[in-house]
Amino acid sequence: MASSPTMLVVICSSLAMAVILSSSSPATGQLDVGFYGKTCPKVEEIVREEMIRILAVAPTLAGPLLRLHFHDCFVRGCDGSVLIDSTASNTAEKDAPPNQTLRGFGSVQRIKARLDAACPGTVSCADVLALMARDAVALSGGPHWAVPLGRRDGRVSAANDTTTQLPPPTANITQLARMFTAKGLGLKDLVVLSGGHTLGTAHCSAFTDRLYNFTGANNAGDVDPALDRSYLARLRSRCTSLAGDNTTLAEMDPGSFLTFDAGYYRLVARRRGLFHSDSSLLADAFTAGYVRRQATGMYAAEFFRDFAESMVKMGGVGVLTGGEGEIRKKCYVIN
Ligand code: HEM
Repeated sequence: MASSPTMLVVICSSLAMAVILSSSSPATGQLDVGFYGKTCPKVEEIVREEMIRILAVAPTLAGPLLRLHFHDCFVRGCDGSVLIDSTASNTAEKDAPPNQTLRGFGSVQRIKARLDAACPGTVSCADVLALMARDAVALSGGPHWAVPLGRRDGRVSAANDTTTQLPPPTANITQLARMFTAKGLGLKDLVVLSGGHTLGTAHCSAFTDRLYNFTGANNAGDVDPALDRSYLARLRSRCTSLAGDNTTLAEMDPGSFLTFDAGYYRLVARRRGLFHSDSSLLADAFTAGYVRRQATGMYAAEFFRDFAESMVKMGGVGVLTGGEGEIRKKCYVIN
């Protein structure tokens, strides 16, 4: 499989910059870094090998694969419920509006199939997501961390659950803080994990409300005052109308959207965060302090450590363990 030049740069910079955190980091709840030590000892090797192949062919999947784990964990906990297909009698999470822009499902199933060939019926889809998200970040130049494992897969996936549990891009700092607190995550996790927006792209429809008719006054000046004016002009030339444009994409960290770095904070500090939720990090003294500190560009190693720590925390949200749930055979359908 051919590696694109971009991918090689990405992989090399990942090796050079990765912050390798100790593999002896503590277990999260009942999860354990060495969970598959005896039952599937090559699990991490297999996932990494496949991730290198996947990103060599489709480098833009790094962002979506990180986002999949976030959307999994925030709805019913990290139980792989985001991967389940709808049926005649059930509309699953996957088909709810915030999840219609998710990508990467085929890659998850591809890795799960390889794992099942090596260790049949052993590794959960929820764990596959957690490992793929970590590798997506590490292979994009970000930190590498030890992923506590042992999640079981859920048997329920309901579209309605997404409405109350996934933060919308229009959220203000109060709503974001409340939705993160509901998952046992604090303001620090919020500002740190928002840094995931250093990777990937967004559809115009996720932020055009900021560019046109922001308050309903519907005149040329009716824009989100929290958005930098020259950036706004640039975004308007890309997203030309308020009408829900679900096809045009904008890079969230323009120029380095395939590289995991602290560039997101520089953007937010300059009032160039893409979503209202990004810009609202400036509305709280603590989160604004973190944004401004990282915007100096001098503390990237600290951000990498923080990100790894918050990802482990997020990866432990509402997990099923022991005899709960199941190990799904195919990630898109319950057994
Ligand atoms: C704080 C609340 C958050 C909100 C409101 C939010 C919202 C969004 C929205 C609206 C998109 C664009 C989807 C599209 O139009 O295709 C997006 C993309 C993305 N989000 Fe978030 N997000 C949040 C937190 C997070 C977290 C915690 C992570 C991971 C740690 C994350 C990772 C990503 C990534 C990587 C993308 C790019 C996906 C792609 O390239 O397709 N987000 N987010």
